[in-house]
Amino acid sequence: MRKNIVAGNWKMNLDYEKGLSLFSEIVNMVKDEVVGDQEVVVCSPAIHLHSIAKLAEPVSNVAVGAQNIHQAESGAYTGEISGAQVKSTGANYVILGHSERRAYFGETNTLLAQKVDAALANGLRPIFCIGETKDEREEGKVFDVIKTQLEKGLFHLSSEEFEKIVLAYEPVWAIGTGLTASPEQAQEVHAFIRDTVADHYTQKIAADTSILYGGSCNPANASELFSQKDIDGGLIGGASLKSRDFLEIVKVFN
Ligand code: G3H
Repeated sequence: MRKNIVAGNWKMNLDYEKGLSLFSEIVNMVKDEVVGDQEVVVCSPAIHLHSIAKLAEPVSNVAVGAQNIHQAESGAYTGEISGAQVKSTGANYVILGHSERRAYFGETNTLLAQKVDAALANGLRPIFCIGETKDEREEGKVFDVIKTQLEKGLFHLSSEEFEKIVLAYEPVWAIGTGLTASPEQAQEVHAFIRDTVADHYTQKIAADTSILYGGSCNPANASELFSQKDIDGGLIGGASLKSRDFLEIVKVFN
């Protein structure tokens, strides 16, 4: 059975104190208000990870993740953080392949495949992001782009490894822009993603894979998006920085 997951991506926001205070609010609201079996994940900057993972420990449906790792186990990579280091904070997830990493830090599908391996080797579940740019959509290349990102980034994994992956469809043109894919547009791509996974692995593995939508998801549009049959939750940027907005999105699955 696949899980519904609502993950927040704080990106490069919040100092240490503000991050802890936002996370405490989220945890308290989840304890008081969440009655479904959805999982709540907060992917914070590295400075918060250890402290918020401690706060999350007693709450079974809240987990913590990083936003990136380096592909090597350790070594002379000034400024980088490894999968083992992230895992040692108590985090269980890591976002990989976010379009901001692909665009601003030159992360290629080949590099991302190595990062996925490093995450799995250290017991971290990747939230693997895929999605097309505005130009690619206008040129009719959405499915080609998505298929290539899946094949090159993930399809080297064994079935057992792939079962640990959470996918996030994030149309690049909808990220932080206030433009959201319509529920029909998102569903069309999510169904394609699930079919592509089924073709490479099995129907069962595809049916069990959580596929999240990301891109200007907010309390006003989340219910309609999450009611689509292949949308299993969201990867939330801007709205995850406000505890009330984030919780309203989480509670769509109550
Ligand atoms: O990782 C989250 C996505 O980039 C979406 O960000 O909700 O601010 O558009 P956004």
